[in-house]
Amino acid sequence: MTLARMSTGVPAFDNLLGGGLEPRVITQIYGGPASGKSVLCVIASVSCLNEGKGVIFIDTEGFSIERFRQVAGKDAERLAGSLFLYEPHDFDHQGIVIAGLDRVLSRGGIGLIVMDSSTGLYRTNLEKGHDAMQSLSKQMVHLLGYAKRYEIPVLITNQVYMDVQKNTFVGLGGTALAHISKAIIRIDILNRYRKATLEKHRSLAPGGSFEFDIVERGIFVRNGGTG
Ligand SMILES: Nc1ncnc2c1ncn2[C@@H]1O[C@H](COP(=O)(O)OP(=O)(O)OP(=O)(O)O)[C@@H](O)[C@H]1O
Ligand SMILES: [Mg+2]
Repeated sequence: MTLARMSTGVPAFDNLLGGGLEPRVITQIYGGPASGKSVLCVIASVSCLNEGKGVIFIDTEGFSIERFRQVAGKDAERLAGSLFLYEPHDFDHQGIVIAGLDRVLSRGGIGLIVMDSSTGLYRTNLEKGHDAMQSLSKQMVHLLGYAKRYEIPVLITNQVYMDVQKNTFVGLGGTALAHISKAIIRIDILNRYRKATLEKHRSLAPGGSFEFDIVERGIFVRNGGTG
């Protein structure tokens, strides 16, 4: 059985993912500060809301209502009525929020779960010297359970650290987070624009990409995208 993918509302973004966000799995977007992770999450959320479905949005960085308004346009107020926003204040609270989502999901009508970012609060715990990896894995398994039970996509973002040996930035959360994410998109900030590259996918070769600028309404795709 194949379930329809959820359109992000941006053809190049959909193409990169082989037709949109895949239900029943976790898709991860990772990249450095200001690379465009949050705006891609808002774009996907607005697309889902425009389809008449609700969105659970877990935001650990302070949700920008203004940015949501810019992307959603004139329907922002109406669409916001189906946006279930959660703002956990620390990593433990993030786990509690995730564990409690069944109450909203079981009422039906939710089309997407977003967690932006999955590792911001985790990073804080790491910096305090706590062993947070196991808790992060547990949170992800929980989210994956919802994706499967409710047959919806889960979209997470991930922060990065500099791997000095490889001289490149790497997603946080180790291999556990990479394994549990069935599609992974990396965003690079190039000279004057950004580039989204497919790094991992279940049914597509990696390497597809599209280039974009961040603009008021969301993103402006500079080429049609490849792959
Ligand atoms: N209305 C707008 N018009 C043009 N650019 C914008 C607009 N709003 C935000 N930006 C740009 O978008 C970028 C931030 O994008 P976004 O918040 O998606 O990044 P991010 O990857 O989530 O970063 P972080 O890791 O810091 O959360 C900034 O460069 C900002 O200047
Ligand atoms: Mg962000």
